[in-house]
Amino acid sequence: MTQTPSSLARYATVAILLHWVIALLIIGNIGIAWYSDELKGAAKVGLMQWHKTLGICVLLLSLARLAWRLMNPPPAISSDLKPWERTLAHGVHWGFYVLMIGLPLTGWIFVSASPFIKIYPISMFGLFDWPALSFLTDLPKPQMKQVHEVFAEVHHLMAKVIVYGLIPLHVLGALKHQFMDKDDTLARMIPFLRRAGQ
Ligand code: HEM
Ligand code: HEM
Repeated sequence: MTQTPSSLARYATVAILLHWVIALLIIGNIGIAWYSDELKGAAKVGLMQWHKTLGICVLLLSLARLAWRLMNPPPAISSDLKPWERTLAHGVHWGFYVLMIGLPLTGWIFVSASPFIKIYPISMFGLFDWPALSFLTDLPKPQMKQVHEVFAEVHHLMAKVIVYGLIPLHVLGALKHQFMDKDDTLARMIPFLRRAGQ
């Protein structure tokens, strides 16, 4: 069925809830990582434990979201979009899925391959320890160092792609739909937003 901009169906409630919870956790986690750069000693270690806790939550929620999405295809996007807009929107969405899973996964990997993992395990909310990847903690020191360095680099690189690439493109796209195209794209993700034609 072709849909006019004003009749775009909204996302399902589960998809909307997961979208906003994961978005807030990711943005908060970037803020925590940046702010922790200003800190030293116990304050830094304590804040970075929150970075790891929230990151692991993003990993679990994103896997749940991906599984849910594969079983429940999202509503069709506006048929008014030009082919390049469609390709860009899909590219950004799938890029997000790669990073929503890749960022916390690379964090988990490089922290597991750290010489400090036995002293500072990944503590979830200060309540229980999240397991380190034992095949990495048991590696001989030189290999462990190599894995640590490579995956730390990939973690930083992925962080740059999400901060300076995907988030700005995605938000600018949403604002363009809302204020220039005046269609329902943003209202698909924010159900209480006034829909076009109302
Ligand atoms: C939502 C998921 C995550 C996001 C968005 C994220 C983002 C970031 C960002 C922006 C930085 C700073 C990079 C820089 O200074 O250039 C960082 C650093 C760091 N992240 Fe993550 N991260 C996530 C998950 C994780 C997880 C799950 C872990 C570990 C279990 C982790 C461990 C670390 C550590 C230890 C650093 C500091 C690295 C250093 O100082 O060299 N991150 N992260
Ligand atoms: C780190 C933050 C964010 C992440 C990781 C993220 C991720 C995603 C993903 C993966 C989708 C595709 C959903 C699917 O089809 O499965 C999506 C859709 C959407 N997001 Fe975000 N998002 C973020 C922030 C935002 C913000 C701040 C806004 C609003 C300004 C926004 C507005 C939307 C809208 C309107 C859609 C639906 C697009 C459409 O109908 O084609 N998102 N987001």
